[in-house]
Amino acid sequence: MQIFRLALTFPLLAGLAAGCSQPNKAGADGATAPTTAAAADTAALAKKPGWWKETVVYQIYPRSFQDSNGDGEGDLRGIISRLDYLQRLGVGTVWLNPIYASPNDDSGYDISDYRRIQPAFGTMQDFDALLQGLHRRGIKLVMDLVVNHSSDEHEWFRQARSSRSSPYRDYYHWWPAERGKPTPRWSFFDVNSDAWRYDSLTNSYYLHYFSRKQPDLNWENPKLRQEIYRMMRFWLDKGIDGFRMDAFQFVAKDPRFPVLPPGYEKNIIRYYGNGPHLHDYIQEMNREVLSKYNVMTVAEGAGSGPTDAMLFVDPARKELNMAYHFEGMDLANGPDGYRLTDFKRIYTRWDSAFARTGWLSIYLANHDQPRMLSKFGDDRPAFRAASAKLLNTFILTMRGTPYCYNGDELGMSNIRFKRIEDYRDMETRNGYQRVKNRGGDLNAFLAQAKRTARDNGRTPFQWDASAQAGFSTGTPWLHVNPNYRAVNAAAQEADSASVLNHFRRATALRRAHPVLVHGQYRLLDAANPHIYAYTRTLGAARALVVLNFTAEPRTWALPAGLTPGGAPWLNNYPTFGPAATLALQPWQALVLPLR
Ligand code: NOJ
Repeated sequence: MQIFRLALTFPLLAGLAAGCSQPNKAGADGATAPTTAAAADTAALAKKPGWWKETVVYQIYPRSFQDSNGDGEGDLRGIISRLDYLQRLGVGTVWLNPIYASPNDDSGYDISDYRRIQPAFGTMQDFDALLQGLHRRGIKLVMDLVVNHSSDEHEWFRQARSSRSSPYRDYYHWWPAERGKPTPRWSFFDVNSDAWRYDSLTNSYYLHYFSRKQPDLNWENPKLRQEIYRMMRFWLDKGIDGFRMDAFQFVAKDPRFPVLPPGYEKNIIRYYGNGPHLHDYIQEMNREVLSKYNVMTVAEGAGSGPTDAMLFVDPARKELNMAYHFEGMDLANGPDGYRLTDFKRIYTRWDSAFARTGWLSIYLANHDQPRMLSKFGDDRPAFRAASAKLLNTFILTMRGTPYCYNGDELGMSNIRFKRIEDYRDMETRNGYQRVKNRGGDLNAFLAQAKRTARDNGRTPFQWDASAQAGFSTGTPWLHVNPNYRAVNAAAQEADSASVLNHFRRATALRRAHPVLVHGQYRLLDAANPHIYAYTRTLGAARALVVLNFTAEPRTWALPAGLTPGGAPWLNNYPTFGPAATLALQPWQALVLPLR
């Protein structure tokens, strides 16, 4: 079950704070002030209001990015050793998945101390050095804020479960067993899909929408909310630039836990999302915390559609910055892939809903998804590079803030484990056990996991062709994709036509042309099942994007009135013959200036 992937993300990064406060001092990593045009651009941009519209976000999954001490797990020192790589990507913001103290039941999304760094990732000094090193390069840092739930090993929960009269009891949701069984609530990760867990210590059940080691926090308690606001200030005062707010649409609950209609679990966003007072809480958080800092927020999950999503990001409501929808993600999870016409319809519908106000994020993958290339492109060797470039072109030429998941700039692909033992993700392992307990079809489960399991997107970053892809000198916590000898950053550095260098060209293009950020979007040829074409218009500046989403050559006639105004701004093939009808190569992606 992957319904939580339907959420929405809003970064509220506005500002700088300590970010650019010491631009001329050498950082702990030895870097001096921004050294490239990209860094200078991003540093200047960071001071502009609404800079988060113009940034490109690069998501780092820290456990898999770079291991610096040979324990097989990525860490902060590892990221620090790759700061120059990040700078050369031309991205303006890094979003780090959770690096806080955690027993790692859900890979860091089960936090046992919100103010400590998980020892496997390093120390607070390492964190400070990382933040400084990013800021020196003009790159912002957004952290994950995981406050729908904590770990069951958090001190709050230890105290809460110790006695019904604990001052922390109301930090969580409890159902006293003398009232009988709680009204059913479905859980995303639980082996029995049961979100209530009986705890004999106080003869009560506690609520956990995710795993039983992730008890839900009680946002209805103002003391809990104040604790969270203090914790947010702790990080913001360090100078971070915003938060990606995990599962945030679920935080508000009706503590009476009314009976839900049969089948509610098939529409979990409707029943768990946008609970009573959700927007009151976000407005309170904005008033008391976010408005005091010039930072960005992205909440994961914003309800059932654009109308709900707008409530989170309409600037007049003073809540968050950026909506993050899951409709595009949920399109291609079945065995038959997806129809391009559906893909176009979804992105166009969301764009129209946000055409006048509000702002969207654009992404095709993250740590909860399989690899973008395997899901939306074509990872067969003949088409890998072209289709990865096309997908990156799409992300970087749409209206909305682009999010690139680490490794997608190289065209990394799904690992497709054959055996359950190779998976590390509790979602997949518990799901397997659930099917097994019910006597279900385990082979069908494994076949589906090859397409959709989260570990497909979590394998170690492929830096070079040496052992373990240069990720670690030890044994990686998750297998390296065996294709690393062909697909790695070092090989792509050396090849100007690589996916990596195309990605760099695309980020530079977006920085150079405001029309690609702010320009109005218009879909062309909506019914074409093979080609996705759209224009972007900002005053006199106009661009045309033409994407052949198939492995066959295609032709596409330019609509009347559209005349290319020169050589392509971006092209993932070496050739281009201007003509009234474009002859497109398999997975060709063109960005053309228009007269
Ligand atoms: C969404 C996160 O992205 C995912 O990785 C996590 O498992 C759940 N929320 C629970 O925190």
